Amino acid sequence: MQEPMPAQSGKLTAEEKLHLLVDFGARISSELHLDKLLDIIAQQITHMLDVGRCTIYLKDEDTNELWSKIAQGKGLEHTEIRLPLNSAGFIALVARTGQTINLPNAYEDPRFSMDVDIVTAFRTHATIAVPLKNNSGDVLGVFQASNKSDGTPFDKNDEGLLRLLAALASGSIEIAKLYEEVHVAQLETIYRLAVTAEYRDQHDTRQHLKNISIISYLLALALGMSKSEAELIKNASPLHDIGKVALADNILLKPGKLTPEEFEVMKSHTIYGGRILEGAHSKVLQMAYKMSLFHHEKWNGSGYPKGLKGEEIPLEARIVTVADVFDALCVSRVYKKAWKTEEALAYINEQAGQAFDPNIVEAFLKVYPSVKRLYSVSSPHPTQQPSSATNQTKLS
Ligand code: C2E
Ligand code: SIN
Ligand code: SIN
Ligand code: FE
Repeated sequence: MQEPMPAQSGKLTAEEKLHLLVDFGARISSELHLDKLLDIIAQQITHMLDVGRCTIYLKDEDTNELWSKIAQGKGLEHTEIRLPLNSAGFIALVARTGQTINLPNAYEDPRFSMDVDIVTAFRTHATIAVPLKNNSGDVLGVFQASNKSDGTPFDKNDEGLLRLLAALASGSIEIAKLYEEVHVAQLETIYRLAVTAEYRDQHDTRQHLKNISIISYLLALALGMSKSEAELIKNASPLHDIGKVALADNILLKPGKLTPEEFEVMKSHTIYGGRILEGAHSKVLQMAYKMSLFHHEKWNGSGYPKGLKGEEIPLEARIVTVADVFDALCVSRVYKKAWKTEEALAYINEQAGQAFDPNIVEAFLKVYPSVKRLYSVSSPHPTQQPSSATNQTKLS
């Protein structure tokens, strides 16, 4: 967590203010993740202007809305607010006109809409909103600060500081937005590639890939990995069987037991997967490389293609193995019926130290209640990702 800024704008010397601004620039320029960047900016502004709340609205070009994640109850929960650009309040007005608006007493001004206050249970007194513009002067969003701690309205100094912070932040926000777009495009491509590899032998490819990726994610977290490592594992895991694209239909789709010769050919999907992903530059594909090559290795050394043993097998591959086998058991294939989740659980448990890393089996037992829900027919949203703490509110 960032250390809070030492003091507030009003009581600072020019030199201290300059120092704060330089520090602000350094902090924001090193953050590529949009959500985190916006959190940092909002925290810094709250501190530097000494206000009760800072809200950053960004324009969503696809929907013509302004959106913001507003932290509530000591920042534990975020509510996503969406305001149409043509809505009546003063925030949308600032975004449309590109002009700063300063309201000494919000509730007495007809331009102010109370909708956001109602949703977030907040009482705005004095508030100011400045446009966030890029170098070409396009409005990217709006910075809003509300309720100075001394209860006074915002003055010219506050306005100047907020405009300056918005100018400093706009470059970083644009870069983080681009980064996010590229990241989303990359994940989408990976996912579609994975679907391509699996659609021949499975009708419910998407479900299957989602389940494996959610189980892998839960296992990674239960093993104590950081959220970002776990996310990498989640994003890479759908590619573990990519090598199946190289297999002929008569083997992949054989509606019965494979002969030993056929199973030898089947095993080569790990080698093909490794070849397809070898030498990739991105972290997620490097991880997918290890998963595809080693996801059929077994803890006791009896797996394929290399017969690696124990911790010789990369951890990400050991994780996806457990997820893959559990999922394979719980669904029907051309060659087998679906098992009950309890039967599959018993199998995973029984194979601890044989096929599977015992630590990962232990983690699996911990997350099993969540895993089971993915496979229960009665669940209305079996495809849902683990829930995040964000709920969305659209305002008119
Ligand atoms: P898959 O169907 O995705 O299964 C992945 C892994 O789950 C299997 O790896 C195996 O470890 C486990 N698994 C799946 N079903 C069962 C089962 O009924 N009993 C047990 N004990 N384990 C099961 P494995 O064995 O290396 O197989 C790799 C892939 O080879 C399978 O992927 C499947 O595509 C194919 N395959 C394996 N056996 C047969 C078969 O008899 N007939 C056909 N048509 N394909 C098979
Ligand atoms: C508005 O757009 O007028 C309201 C936004 C806010 O609650 O400050
Ligand atoms: C195996 O031959 O190792 C298992 C085949 C299967 O049931 O998937
Ligand atoms: Fe496989």
